[in-house]
Amino acid sequence: MLSPTVFPDHEAMSHAAADLLAAQLRRKPDTLLCLATGATPMRSYELLAAQRDTGANLFDQLRVLKLDEWGGIPMENPATCESFLRKSFVEPLGLESRYVGFHSQPADPVAECDRIRRWLAENGPIDLCVLGLGVNGHLGFNEPADALQPHAHVATLADESLAHSMIANERVRPDFGLTLGMADLLQSGQILLVVSGRSKRAPLRQLLSGRISTHFPASFLWLHEKVDLFCDQAVLD
Ligand code: F6R
Repeated sequence: MLSPTVFPDHEAMSHAAADLLAAQLRRKPDTLLCLATGATPMRSYELLAAQRDTGANLFDQLRVLKLDEWGGIPMENPATCESFLRKSFVEPLGLESRYVGFHSQPADPVAECDRIRRWLAENGPIDLCVLGLGVNGHLGFNEPADALQPHAHVATLADESLAHSMIANERVRPDFGLTLGMADLLQSGQILLVVSGRSKRAPLRQLLSGRISTHFPASFLWLHEKVDLFCDQAVLD
């Protein structure tokens, strides 16, 4: 049953998300964490990273996998998922040697997806996957379509994704997306979906309807038995 836990605002939701992640790291120090970027989850990563000074050694064995990437944008561009994750989480915690993710400008995008697919086959499954909800119901860059893909693949970005706040003002436009697939996500031990703000009101309502459709990829979360759905009050107002 997907039922939202509602927090008064984004900050309160982010604290709860950071606490959930920290609890997972205490339970399983070598957790493989798969992380979405975007506006919704970044604050929780910052709050979690701030726990590095507590002396709890929470991050000594943590492994991090980047969920997705904008294809065709230089890796060091501040708009990439790479830059978001490195700045807020990977670099503050010194996780570079235990961090894996798609390159944003691979010479061969299909081969790059094969590399991530092989890495996940050898090092997975994901223990805890943090996801955001696309306005069109996408998860990562698993976009609405007649069929969804199970594993890492090159995605055609939907118009809604091309209007995403991460890249809306970028001069260099992404040509494609690189993303883990739906089976990769659904094989995670646990999933945390974070949803915030009025623009997510309609997609959240659609998700909660319980109708499962490839045209609304997030609806497949109904097939997973361990999903925490956190949202803020603004998404319900
Ligand atoms: C980004 C990603 C996307 C976002 C989604 C919600 O890495 O995977 O699927 O999670 O578009 O983005 P925000 O949180 O910016 O509304």
